[in-house]
Amino acid sequence: MSATIIDGKAYAAGLRGRVAGAVADLSRDGVVPGLAVVLAGSDPASQIYVRNKARQTVEVGMESFEHLLPATASEAEVLALVARLNADPAVDGILVQLPLPAQIDSQKVIEAIDPGKDVDGFHPINAGRLMTGVPGFVSCTPLGCLLLIRSVRPDLAGLDAVVIGRSNIVGKPMAQLLLGQSCTVTVAHSRTRDLEAVCRRADILVAAVGRPDMVRGDWIKPGAIVIDVGINRVPNPQAGEGKTRVVGDVAFAEAAAVAGAITPVPGGVGPMTIACLLRNTLQAACQRRGLPMPALDAA
Ligand code: GUN
Repeated sequence: MSATIIDGKAYAAGLRGRVAGAVADLSRDGVVPGLAVVLAGSDPASQIYVRNKARQTVEVGMESFEHLLPATASEAEVLALVARLNADPAVDGILVQLPLPAQIDSQKVIEAIDPGKDVDGFHPINAGRLMTGVPGFVSCTPLGCLLLIRSVRPDLAGLDAVVIGRSNIVGKPMAQLLLGQSCTVTVAHSRTRDLEAVCRRADILVAAVGRPDMVRGDWIKPGAIVIDVGINRVPNPQAGEGKTRVVGDVAFAEAAAVAGAITPVPGGVGPMTIACLLRNTLQAACQRRGLPMPALDAA
């Protein structure tokens, strides 16, 4: 194995520590940033994620507001809750956990969130700001990926970047961020022809497809930076019947033998998402009060 292993867990802990320091500074002026999380239904993965968010929000000194709605909640109920949170001065950031139950139009809910409190960066206003290079909120997972990439290579100008996946949550904002760093960006997806050859050109390869071990070692350009966004649960019979383990979208051992730097799963991109959410909530709290955003990202 030759690649540098990018320790997202350690980076995220450091970022949370810097956020906590900035929150402590704000508290001297009586400012306590608040993050509201809305969860409708009882999807187990979402429940775990929301619980972790609430714990880490409190750990950095922010206030956490949790709104748990039943899976039968109507669209009107969710929209009414979002309207209340938009108007609540104690709430700086609003996150509505996706996916929402089928009877609720997610896009309508996202567009109802005040763009100044949209710490997920999913509102079209913030997506548009990212696209046009105007400051705004950037989706947490791609922001975390960019921080990890720049932790091993601060200047990305001119590099060939390939993003596999075109979702609004990861693939598209990731491509915009890399373009903003002057990379030459290719967005690959399920209809891309000769994906392997496309990947082999990448100095930076970001895999966000949700297919276990899809990217093989011989798809990787020697020395490339490989970022694995996948969180896939697969059977793990060695640990016992019915047991599972989490793997990424990249066949790690094969890829690590070729890459220059690579994120592991777990412990790579995953911990960065909540750390970046807290960073965005701090940004929202400062912006709403006309305060400068403290410098946090220099690693
Ligand atoms: N579901 C999976 N990831 C995310 C995320 O980053 N934000 C929200 N709101 N829902 C998600």
